[in-house]
Amino acid sequence: MNVYILTLFPQMFSGVLGASILGRAIERGVIRVKLVDIRDFTHDAHKTADDYPYGGGPGMVMKPEPIYEAVDAVKEEIASSGSPDAPYICLLTPQGETFCDRMARELAGISNLVLICGHYEGFDERVRYLADREISIGDYVLTGGEIPAMVVLDAVARYVPGVLGSDQSPRSESFADGLLEGPQYTRPAEYRGMKVPEILLSGDHEKIRRWRRKQSLKRTLERRPDLLEKAVLTPEDRELLLEIAWEADAGDDLGTNASGRGAQPGVK
Ligand code: ADE
Repeated sequence: MNVYILTLFPQMFSGVLGASILGRAIERGVIRVKLVDIRDFTHDAHKTADDYPYGGGPGMVMKPEPIYEAVDAVKEEIASSGSPDAPYICLLTPQGETFCDRMARELAGISNLVLICGHYEGFDERVRYLADREISIGDYVLTGGEIPAMVVLDAVARYVPGVLGSDQSPRSESFADGLLEGPQYTRPAEYRGMKVPEILLSGDHEKIRRWRRKQSLKRTLERRPDLLEKAVLTPEDRELLLEIAWEADAGDDLGTNASGRGAQPGVK
C-alpha cells in the first residue's frame, strides 16, 4: 500500500512513522509512506501557502494552487510507477464523515491512498473538489489535519495484510465485530490482591472462549449499548446476554458503577 500525505508540516510525522508497528511495517516495505510538503509547490520566495479570506474575516485560508499541484505531482508519480490504480484522495477536515473501523477496513484495500492535511483556519473551498472523501476523526477542531491523518493511517495500517504479526489479529479486537473487547490479563495471576479470573487459568479452551465472548458482550452493553444494537448477534450471543441480564437481576453487579468499574474487573 502506498500512502501519500500532503502536509505543511512533514516533520510532525517523524515519530509516528519511525516507531512501533507502523515503523516496522514501513521498514519492511509493507506500507510505503511518502510525505509531500505542500510548501514545495508554492511559487514565491516566501513559500506562501495561505492567504487572507475573500470577503474579510479572521484567520488565513490555505491556497488551492499548491495543494492542486502537489496532488498533480502525486498522480504523475503513481502513473510513472506503473501502478494501474488511481489515487484515492481523502481530505482531513472536521466537516467530513466521522472516521470509524469500517472506514479503516475499506481504506486498507486501497493501493494509492492520498491524505490531505488542512491547516490554518481552513482551506479554499475548491480544494474539496479534489477529494473522493472527506474524513473527520471526531466532533472537535484540531489545529490541523496532521494528527487526524496519523490516526487514520494507524487504524488503516492495522488492516493491511502483513502489518500485524501473525499472532496478532485485528479481527478479535474491539469494533472489528461491532463489539468492545473484554478484559485481558497477563502474569502475575494475582497482583495487589487482584486475581486473574479462575477460568482463564483452567486450560479449558471452550469455556474460555465462551467466557471471553460473554465479557465482550457485557462490556459493550455497559459502555456502548449503541454498538450492541447494531451488532450481528449469534444465538449463543443472545443466550449469553440473557445470562448477563439474569446475573444483573440477581444483584451480581453490586459494587460496580455504571461503567463496570469499582469492583475488581472481570472476576465474576
Ligand atoms: N482538522 C481539524 N480538526 C479535524 C478533525 N476533527 N478531523 C479531521 N481533520 C481535522
